[in-house]
Amino acid sequence: MTGNAKLVAGGKDHDYPVLAGSVGPDVIDIRKLYGQTGMFTYDPGFTSTASCESGLTYIDGDQGILLHRGYPIDQLAEQSNFMEVSYLLLNGELPSQAELEKFSYTITRHTMLHEQLATFYRGFRRDAHPMAIMCGVVGALSAFYHDSTDITDPRQRMIASHRLIAKMPTIAAMAYKYSVGQPFLYPDNKLSYTGNFLRMTFGVPAEDYVVDPVVEAAMDKIFILHADHEQNASTSTVRLAGSSGANPFACIAAGIACLWGPAHGGANEAALNMLREIGHPDRIPEYIARAKNKDDPFRLMGFGHRVYKNYDPRAKVMQKTANEVLDKLGVTDPIFDVARELEQIALKDEYFVSKKLYPNVDFYSGVILSAIGFPTTMFTVLFALARTVGWVAQWNEMISDPEQKIGRPRQLYTGPTQRDYVPVGDR
Ligand code: CMC
Repeated sequence: MTGNAKLVAGGKDHDYPVLAGSVGPDVIDIRKLYGQTGMFTYDPGFTSTASCESGLTYIDGDQGILLHRGYPIDQLAEQSNFMEVSYLLLNGELPSQAELEKFSYTITRHTMLHEQLATFYRGFRRDAHPMAIMCGVVGALSAFYHDSTDITDPRQRMIASHRLIAKMPTIAAMAYKYSVGQPFLYPDNKLSYTGNFLRMTFGVPAEDYVVDPVVEAAMDKIFILHADHEQNASTSTVRLAGSSGANPFACIAAGIACLWGPAHGGANEAALNMLREIGHPDRIPEYIARAKNKDDPFRLMGFGHRVYKNYDPRAKVMQKTANEVLDKLGVTDPIFDVARELEQIALKDEYFVSKKLYPNVDFYSGVILSAIGFPTTMFTVLFALARTVGWVAQWNEMISDPEQKIGRPRQLYTGPTQRDYVPVGDR
């Protein structure tokens, strides 16, 4: 505690403790506010509200800093790998060599899906959005893995977490295979987590699939960049769903549903669609003008962030990776020129400068994913795959927190006051 904050409400003084984190803004502990004043706070979108205590991820939006368990995202993206970052998020520390091997072994042994789950896919239309399939199949996991749904047992929680991290690439690849009418591929445990996912997605049973190390490294980096991001909308959804004691598979399905929205994970798909629609650098001014027009709902997708008011540090790594991948794969995509030019123009434009709108992680990710060969509908699926580790780590942290309560926000009611029911014939 670092002192008190004084509030004058209803003509009386009230003191509330101010709590300090290890870094970042202090918080005013208002848990007794309603009991003492009969008032709620009003904060739509939780712009000033800390919903929980967490030791996982720290963001300084003004300085463009993102730390996982204290480690900067650029160091993790450049020097680590997704398995190691997953261990770090789940367990709090970087693993020793032996711990990393054991963790990778455990995850690898959970990559297969219950065979009957394949029939779920066949219930979807071939043109179903893969995120719709992901919501359904991940939610259905609770019907197959009963032995890891007792959330009061830390061991079962960890088994469910490992299962979710391990099975997500299989589920995502199967969603893709279903959409293109190709047979599902079983995991190949000789491959890395990321290599295995690429093979299940792009391989076919009739031929050997050779994992391209450039693509594997880029994909692994993209997974790291999306692994966790503090209390964003989908993570808060997972926590809120989990706060009622719902099973972990249902909670992650809820997170996937929230992530799908174009203001959140769906932005990478929307950003690439937008770049394709712009098509040529000459048309950029027209779209910049639309983004600035208050009467036009259009927004520059992949631009702006609730927390980052400097530069999204993930976007820097993503832009560098996009350069590397396009160079190494020899892909010349005019969309990349449009992206680079659009960024340069927006960064100098008074509207974007004054509102502190910078490219976010989704601005360049679509360019890379498209170069690798993913259709746009798969972009958010890849985000969900990577974010699963963040979701399960945050969910585990919440369940272990003695302060945890069911999430139950209050409201400012502005509807009609009490009135008498009028029978339909008298209205
Ligand atoms: N293009 C044009 N104007 C924008 C944009 C944009 N992309 N983003 C924000 N603004 C304007 C907005 O109109 C508002 O103007 P005013 O103050 O005049 O009303 C001002 O900037 C503040 O915007 P806001 O909507 O109040 O800010 P927010 O914190 O509620 O929204 C956001 C953040 C990410 C939803 C928003 O910037 C946005 O819609 N961006 C495009 C979608 C996108 O790229 N999302 C991915 C986010 S990163 C990945 C993830 O975390 O999922």
